[in-house]
Amino acid sequence: MGRKNVGEMVVVLVTLLHIWLVCVTASSLGNINNYEEHLRRNLLANGLGKTPPMGWNSWNHFSCQIDEKIIRQTADALVSTGLSKLGYTYVNIDDCWAELNRDNKGNLVGKKSTFPSGIKALADYVHSKGLKLGIYSDAGYFTCSKKMPGSLGHEFQDAKTFASWGIDYLKYDNCNNDGSNSTVRYPVMTRALAKAGRPIFFSLCEWGQMYPALWGAKVGNSWRTTNDINDSWESMISRADLNEVYAEHARPGGWNDPDMLEVGNGGMTKNEYIVHFSLWAISKAPLLLGCDVRNVTKETMEIVSNKEVIAVNQDLLGVQAKKVRMEGDAEIWAGPLSGYRVAVVFLNRGPQKHIDITANWNDIGIPPKTVVQARDLWEHKTLKTPFVNKLRATVESHACKMYVLKPVA
Ligand code: GAL
Repeated sequence: MGRKNVGEMVVVLVTLLHIWLVCVTASSLGNINNYEEHLRRNLLANGLGKTPPMGWNSWNHFSCQIDEKIIRQTADALVSTGLSKLGYTYVNIDDCWAELNRDNKGNLVGKKSTFPSGIKALADYVHSKGLKLGIYSDAGYFTCSKKMPGSLGHEFQDAKTFASWGIDYLKYDNCNNDGSNSTVRYPVMTRALAKAGRPIFFSLCEWGQMYPALWGAKVGNSWRTTNDINDSWESMISRADLNEVYAEHARPGGWNDPDMLEVGNGGMTKNEYIVHFSLWAISKAPLLLGCDVRNVTKETMEIVSNKEVIAVNQDLLGVQAKKVRMEGDAEIWAGPLSGYRVAVVFLNRGPQKHIDITANWNDIGIPPKTVVQARDLWEHKTLKTPFVNKLRATVESHACKMYVLKPVA
């Protein structure tokens, strides 16, 4: 066979593979739509997540090195720092909390060496502080660490166990599964949770593999759109980009999730963490702290306790911002808020020391000639002049400005 023929065959094979992938995706999305027709519009319908969830998760800082003491002390710290009052109420345990073997009735059990009092006692403690407890499982045979079992094939039993312990939030991972699509495996847990008798926020963690933004709102309260974040500028900014393209799919009850916060873990500068927090807030992402809240610094507190930025995230309109203008390293992200206000982030994502960025009302959805009052959310200042038609700002490298614009005439 000549080189050309081999080349043509490869093209045909790649095309066939592509067609097959599209069909497989379409048919499994079809499954979900059938459920929708036969049952109800939203499989879950648990009334949770009217605004993006806020709280803490153990993974980014502690990985598998967790125990009940850390979880208890974190709950204490969320209260003593005042973070819980700002809305950070979910205390979420990630991977590695359970024994590798189920008990003789097939139930999941907390790891004896690290969670000796059991998860129910932990839930009682967390609840006594006015907080909520989240837990983690996997739509496979083992979780990603392989240190504990997954829930595949045990969905109804595990959902019942979680409800009986008083769990309020389930993060559901995608490792070590049977090779079937997440669109088939995740709705099983959705139905199990709906039957378990306790409203449990359902966080789909299938890393954006089967485009969960297209079906997640029928199945869960949030869905990861990317694989894991790490504590670096490149990782953070690329997760924000990947998540942004799905903006239209976010809404009260169902949110795009670009992964948990790294603010306070030490890998970025203060300005970079401010960008991280601002982009997550304006993108209506879950605000799940990933640092050691027990030893939180003044600088981290200053960032994550910015009430005005949190208010953008928690605004009841629930519309995710989009990039509305991109010129080289300068970007404008904007999205509507309740009361005809608009939230805007001016971002300098490049090395250039200063960039002047101008937002025209046209770009950000404000009618021309509207007189606007601008509130700078990081300076905590209302700018002196009211603005007509545009707003201009100078932004440092790897930094941002964030405003709420309010029409005054
Ligand atoms: C990953 C997941 C992480 C973390 C980890 C635990 O799949 O995306 O957020 O949960 O598993 O092993």
